[in-house]
Amino acid sequence: MNIDASATAQPGAHPIDREALRSLLRSAPKAELHIHIEGSLEPELIFKLAQRNGVALAYPSVEALRAAYAFTDLQSFLDIYYAGASVLLTEADFFDMAWAYFERAAADHVVHAELFFDPQTHTDRGVAIGVVINGLHRACQQAQAQLGISAGLILCFLRHLSEDAAITTLQAALPYRDQIIGVGLDSSERGHPPEKFARVFAQARALGLHAVAHAGEEGPPAYIESALDVLQVERIDHGVRCVESPALVARLAASRMPLTVCPLSNIKLCVYKTMADHQLPTLLAAGLCATINSDDPAYFGGYINHNFIATFDALPQLGVQEAWQLMRNSFEASFASDQAKAGWMAQLDEAFAAAR
Ligand code: HPA
Ligand code: ZN
Repeated sequence: MNIDASATAQPGAHPIDREALRSLLRSAPKAELHIHIEGSLEPELIFKLAQRNGVALAYPSVEALRAAYAFTDLQSFLDIYYAGASVLLTEADFFDMAWAYFERAAADHVVHAELFFDPQTHTDRGVAIGVVINGLHRACQQAQAQLGISAGLILCFLRHLSEDAAITTLQAALPYRDQIIGVGLDSSERGHPPEKFARVFAQARALGLHAVAHAGEEGPPAYIESALDVLQVERIDHGVRCVESPALVARLAASRMPLTVCPLSNIKLCVYKTMADHQLPTLLAAGLCATINSDDPAYFGGYINHNFIATFDALPQLGVQEAWQLMRNSFEASFASDQAKAGWMAQLDEAFAAAR
């Protein structure tokens, strides 16, 4: 057996070889907290929905569309991501997209998922917000009933649009308040700081909605600070640029503020040159509540287990202790009940019992 001492991050832990670690990464229970459901739309489904709805696409084939997935930064991705979402018109389209994700999530042993969706991408094309939310919500209900996955929806505001547009979107979502668990903030980060959305986040929090925001993916550490101080978010999405500010790292660690890190996304969008450069080991060593997620799996080359494997393969200093910690963090950081969290954490400990 190929024993790797780096797998033993904790004194007294049993060493396991890297293949056994990969197998554990795949089979252990985990939560996914940073997945844009429109980013799970695979090229094959884009073409199927385009045909079903009579929508013309700018690419002649699935292969040609996939070949266009060569991004240089966040904006170059967003341009093609919004174009892909243009095939979504009916409640069945939103259901089919989310159901395809849940089937893949179940195969990766995801037991809880909190899905981002971008209503403005659809309402601005004339699709009613109820069509979007009802289709997604029905898929969430079926995921619980048929796959045993608990799921919630997080409504994201597009930060390249105005705060007034975000407020209009929140108001349009009010009849569906019970079908969403929180609000988020995504799209083009640079030049659109969190404080631009102070009022709409205050309104959402007053409605009892959870609050999260993308910050520190391409934007500076100051955006993470204003997401915390102005928007009063409960999680930071990405957040990897916090490493540029030791004081911020200390604050995030002391408060156990979760970061939903998306390793393959960071490579595809050139936040890091290679996976070996990723700062996840630094974040974990500093005691941060970091988690691993897929972001936009259809565009970035893999779902959650692929993110775990690619990260651990490139960073041999990550071993069994870090694997357990990342999955435990995913439950700690979720918006599920304390009782549900305790149940999943017990399952996790059982899965790791032989290895830790
Ligand atoms: N960052 C910002 N907005 C997004 C992303 C992302 O990674 N994915 C989908 N919308
Ligand atoms: Zn994201």
